[in-house]
Amino acid sequence: MLKYQTPTGMHDLFQKDLEQVAKIEQLAKKMADFYGFEKIETPILEFSEIFEKGTGGSTDIVEKEMYSLKTKGGDLLTLRPEITPGVVRAYSQAGMQNLPKPVRLWYLGPCFRHERPQAGRYRQFNQLGFESLGTPHPIIDTITILIFYNLLKSLGFKKLIVEVSCIGDGQCRGAFKKALTNYFRSKVSSLCADCRNRLKRNPLRVLDCKEEKCCVVKKNAPQVLDYLCKDCSDHFKSLLEFLEELEIPYSINPYLVRGLDYYTRTVFEIIEDTEEGKVQGSLAGGGRYDGLVKLLGGKDTPACGGAMGVERVINLIKAKNKQAEKEKQTCEVYLTQVGELAKKKALKLFEQLRQANIKAGEGLHKESLSAQLGAADAMKAKYSLIIGQKEALSNQVIIREMKNGRQKVVDIDKVIKELKNKI
Ligand code: HAM
Repeated sequence: MLKYQTPTGMHDLFQKDLEQVAKIEQLAKKMADFYGFEKIETPILEFSEIFEKGTGGSTDIVEKEMYSLKTKGGDLLTLRPEITPGVVRAYSQAGMQNLPKPVRLWYLGPCFRHERPQAGRYRQFNQLGFESLGTPHPIIDTITILIFYNLLKSLGFKKLIVEVSCIGDGQCRGAFKKALTNYFRSKVSSLCADCRNRLKRNPLRVLDCKEEKCCVVKKNAPQVLDYLCKDCSDHFKSLLEFLEELEIPYSINPYLVRGLDYYTRTVFEIIEDTEEGKVQGSLAGGGRYDGLVKLLGGKDTPACGGAMGVERVINLIKAKNKQAEKEKQTCEVYLTQVGELAKKKALKLFEQLRQANIKAGEGLHKESLSAQLGAADAMKAKYSLIIGQKEALSNQVIIREMKNGRQKVVDIDKVIKELKNKI
C-alpha cells in the first residue's frame, strides 16, 4: 500500500468527476438566474461559535464531527461542516438586511464532517445550496423545494421522493418536546447510550437516531404534527397546497426532524426511490430557519433554504450511466469461432445476422473460446453461436442457450431461421 494516500473519507476529483460538478453547477446557475438567486462564496473556515450556536450544540455535527483548530493568534476556527451559518453571518455582516426581500443566495463548495465513511458519506464533500432570507411566506419554502426537485429532475432522476414535515416554532415546540421527553423517559432502558444523552439535551435528536433499537421505540413516539399551533399548522397546509398545485409528489414524514438545531416549521428531504438511492441517503435537505439570523447576532429575519450533496448526486448518476452502458451492450446472440476456416464462416454469418436484424455481438478478433463465451456473458447474450473447426468443416453451427448451457447443432444456412423462431 502506498504510504501517502488521501485522508480517510476524502477523495481526489478527476476530469470526469469535475465535468459532472461543472454540469451540476451550470444547471444550478440557470435555475438561480431564473429564480433570482445571486452567488455567494464564504470562507471555508469560520469561527467555531457560529456552528456551535447555529448548527446546534446537541447535534452530532457539532458534538462529534467538526474539524476545529486554534490559530497561531488564538482564534478558534472550524472547517465548515455546512454553509448555511456562514451565509447567515455574511448576510448580516454585509448589511443585506437593508436590501429588498427576500435576499436570495446560492453557493457551491466543500464541507467537512468527521463522519464514519460509508456509501455516500464522506469527510470532505461539496454542497450546492439555495438560501432565501427575509420572508416568512410558505411560498418561499415551496420554491426552495421546487428548485431542488427541478434540478434533480434535469439531472435525470425520475424516482424522487420529497419528504416533508413541520416541526413547529417557539410557540408550539415546547409542548411537543415535553411530550417527547416524557415518552422517551418511559422507554429510556430501550434507548442507545447516545440517545440517553441526547434526551437530556434535545429529545428531537432521538428521532434522528438510526440505531435499530431506537427506531423501534421511535415508532410509537408522539408526532409533532399533533402539537402544531395554528400559525404553524396553517403554514404547513399552505406549503402542501402549493406543492400539490405544482404537482410535486410529496410524502409527509412526521418523524423527519433533520440533524440540525436551527429549523422552524418546514423541513424537507429528497431521496431517490431506488436501492442505490436509499444506500446513498438524502440527495438534498433543508427547511425554514426563522431564528438563525437573530441567534447569530443579526436582525430578526425569517429564512428558508436547502442544500444538495454533489457527490451523492454524482454517485447515482454514475450508477445510472453504468447500468445504461450495460443495457446498451446487451445483444441477443454472440458469435464465437475457433480456427481460421471458422473465422471466415463466422464473418459471413455475422453479416447475415445484421441483414436479418438480429442484434449480434462477435469476438472475431479473439482466439480463445472461453474468452469469447465470457464476452457473451458480459453482453448478456441469450444465445451464443459456436463455430469450431469441426462445425466449420461440416457447415454447421452450435446454438448454445446461455442461461442453461443447452446446445443444438444446426446447419449454417438454417441458423437465421432457427434463431428467428427462438427470439
Ligand atoms: P444536511 O442535510 O446536513 O443539511 O446536508 C445537505 C446534503 O448534503 C445532504 O442531503 C447530503 O446530500 C449532503 N451531505 C451531508 N453530509 C454528507 C456527507 N458526509 N457526505 C456526502 N454528502 C453529505 C445541511 O447541511 C443544511 N445546511 C441544509 C440547509 C440549507 N438547510 C437550510 N439551508
